[in-house]
Amino acid sequence: MPQPTLLTGRVLRTLGSPFDLPPEEALRIEDGWGVMLEGGRIADIGPAEVLRQNWPQVTEIAYGKDLICPGFVDAHVHYPQTAIIASWGKRLIDWLNTYTFPEEMRFADPGYAAKIAARYLDLTAAHGTTTVCSFCTIHPASVDALMAEAQARGQRIVAGKTCMDRNAPEGLQDTAQSAYDDSKALLEKWHGVDRLSYAITPRFSPTSTPDQMAAMGALWAEHPDCLMQTHLSEQTDEIEWVKSLYPTARDYLDTYEAHGLLGANGLYGHAIHLEDRERDRLREVGAGLVHCPTSNTFIGSGLFDMAGLTGAGVRVGLATDTGGGSSFSMLRTMASAYEIGQLRGTPLHAAQLIWLATAGSAHALGMGDRIGALTKGAEADLAVLNLSSTPAIAQRAERAEDSWEELFATIMMGDDRAVRATWISGKVNA
Ligand code: GUN
Ligand code: ZN
Repeated sequence: MPQPTLLTGRVLRTLGSPFDLPPEEALRIEDGWGVMLEGGRIADIGPAEVLRQNWPQVTEIAYGKDLICPGFVDAHVHYPQTAIIASWGKRLIDWLNTYTFPEEMRFADPGYAAKIAARYLDLTAAHGTTTVCSFCTIHPASVDALMAEAQARGQRIVAGKTCMDRNAPEGLQDTAQSAYDDSKALLEKWHGVDRLSYAITPRFSPTSTPDQMAAMGALWAEHPDCLMQTHLSEQTDEIEWVKSLYPTARDYLDTYEAHGLLGANGLYGHAIHLEDRERDRLREVGAGLVHCPTSNTFIGSGLFDMAGLTGAGVRVGLATDTGGGSSFSMLRTMASAYEIGQLRGTPLHAAQLIWLATAGSAHALGMGDRIGALTKGAEADLAVLNLSSTPAIAQRAERAEDSWEELFATIMMGDDRAVRATWISGKVNA
């Protein structure tokens, strides 16, 4: 068990959603505060002076002007795409066929899967990310590799075997039955073990037959507490393809809905080009959407309607979508979300951006009571940000009139150099 530790500095407090409350009331940046970590949890949070009195003789790590925040929660990633991030010039379907599928084939080798899982968790920790929700490959060993590596690090993670039984290379296809059997076995092996959760993972409608979609729906009905993750309405060509593959479906979402794959524990990545019915149904069932801004610009997919969807009360998380996204950094991802907001005429406040990368994603994963906010009893996953990490940022931070303006400069210009330390389960990691 890690030693009790008091971290002091500037502390980000999450009091509510900055999409419901004025942003600077929902989140506060408190100077001279502290967070007390004990037994892998947050035992206390408050002014540093008070904590020092309440917890005498505890080791204090003084971060000074650094910002102590909840660890970042990346709600949609493909860890197997780590080595092909930033691959040039293709749009979604071509990008999958040219870069992604050949790389995912390599995960037939469990040794390769283990190597990339460790590399991926090293990289994300260095970027301040403490929880990810990941697609794996069709190979069960790709799930074992990520789960085992996360377990060894005491890390909270969600992952699932990506299921595909058509429109993928031969070596990357399972069947409706084997997808069901393998997913069930993996779920029984990992779900709820330590901090690990299993997500039922049909890749997207074009790569699953209606039989496989129904098998995934049946498995979810047997395990409704599990998350189900997939992709929805990312590119217009993809939507046309889905409609031709499912001629009786009312829309893209209906291809999931008709097979038992729509629900409150459903997580739908991208969700850019939604029809009115889709938007209404997603809100009605309380599903989670995941905004993947660097991916949506990098692959040329489109502009997510953050203001419209959050305004309608839809739960939204934020994600890198590694390796369709162009960065492992949730800071770069927040910057991209800001720019997409600008292109839609609805800029996001720094408090909204950092909330999306922490509590917003945690709520989208149904884990808002455990991670994503520095509250008493929550799990001790934190990122400590240096708000003057490069000369360019430091000179801008000097001019800032308040902490939000200072944080915004790091959001727009920062990367892993801004991450002073990452704490996972009360242990310092990077
Ligand atoms: N749609 C189906 N698979 C993928 C994937 O791996 N990445 C992205 N961005 N979209 C997808
Ligand atoms: Zn994805």
